[in-house]
Amino acid sequence: LDGKVIAMDILPMDPIEGVHFLQGDFREQEVADQLTELLEGEKVDVVLSDMAPNLSGVAAADAARCLLLNELALDFAKENLKPNGFFVCKVFQGSGYSQYIEACKKTFKKVSVRKPEASRSSSAEVYVVAKNLK
Ligand SMILES: C[S@@+](CC[C@H](N)C(=O)[O-])C[C@H]1O[C@@H](n2cnc3c(N)ncnc32)[C@H](O)[C@@H]1O
Repeated sequence: LDGKVIAMDILPMDPIEGVHFLQGDFREQEVADQLTELLEGEKVDVVLSDMAPNLSGVAAADAARCLLLNELALDFAKENLKPNGFFVCKVFQGSGYSQYIEACKKTFKKVSVRKPEASRSSSAEVYVVAKNLK
């Protein structure tokens, strides 16, 4: 592998050759700091997040918990991406969605929203694909 891949999740993950794995809760500053330390001062090409909490079925609570993870991922991308880097993030269309897209547009020169074929049409998930930090 020509490059470095760092994965993180609150849950354990089976090892993948060549992938550094950090287990922790991304909402905790200490975990975000550990992730930054693993970058060893380098800026990255891609920040990709498909973090999503376990859904409770209470729409307002679920939307807020999803949005928090999305916002933390965007903050991490702002701080750690190369100027021409990519940010890809799974987002649920619901409360706070349009404001989140606006925040992405303030941060990146190009922002698209994609719904891959692999994503169930009944699911409110879409992917923000953004590039080139402003
Ligand atoms: C849709 S799954 C994706 C899992 C994995 N990336 C994959 O492709 O199989 C969402 C993941 O977000 C993780 N997650 C939820 N809350 C998190 C948090 N606060 N910090 C880190 N990971 C979290 C979950 O444990 C879950 O594995």
